[in-house]
Amino acid sequence: MYNGLTHAHSGFRWIVLLLLVIAVFKALIKWRSNAPYTEGDRKLNLFTMIAAHVQLILGLALFFISPKVSLTGAAMKDPILRFFTAEHSVLMLLAIVLITIGYSRSKKALEDAQKFRWAFIYFLLALVVVLIGIPWPFRGLGTGWF
Ligand code: HEM
Repeated sequence: MYNGLTHAHSGFRWIVLLLLVIAVFKALIKWRSNAPYTEGDRKLNLFTMIAAHVQLILGLALFFISPKVSLTGAAMKDPILRFFTAEHSVLMLLAIVLITIGYSRSKKALEDAQKFRWAFIYFLLALVVVLIGIPWPFRGLGTGWF
């Protein structure tokens, strides 16, 4: 169960990243070229938000069973425990909130250019936070690429 969840959560990062990157570039290009906001644009943003929420559910489940999470004060002295208990979880929650606000603001905006603008701003911010918060293998946290 723990191994399966870790692999699913680790591999699913690529889906979240891919959708976020495509959504950011598409929003920027279509915003700058005054293109119409289509059903396909809405679906891309929606799937990006859904993927982020799936990752949130997997991450929350891991938070309660992972040996890399500890809610004791001493955990803050251990770099791996501190990273997963505090840094990773807080940064990723922030990124998912940004994606959710971006999707909602984009959906509610009345003009097409505004829809692309909100999606671009919030998704770009979320992408930066996700890239900082991912435990990349080169960060020495005992993680892999998948
Ligand atoms: C976009 C959102 C997220 C991404 C891209 C992401 C990505 C990752 C990656 C790549 C790992 C390393 C897995 C490995 O190779 O061992 C990981 C681990 C972990 N994540 Fe996330 N995560 C996200 C959100 C969250 C959230 C919101 C939480 C908790 C509230 C969370 C909790 C954890 C925990 C506890 C681990 C450690 C699992 C272990 O024991 O190895 N993650 N995450």
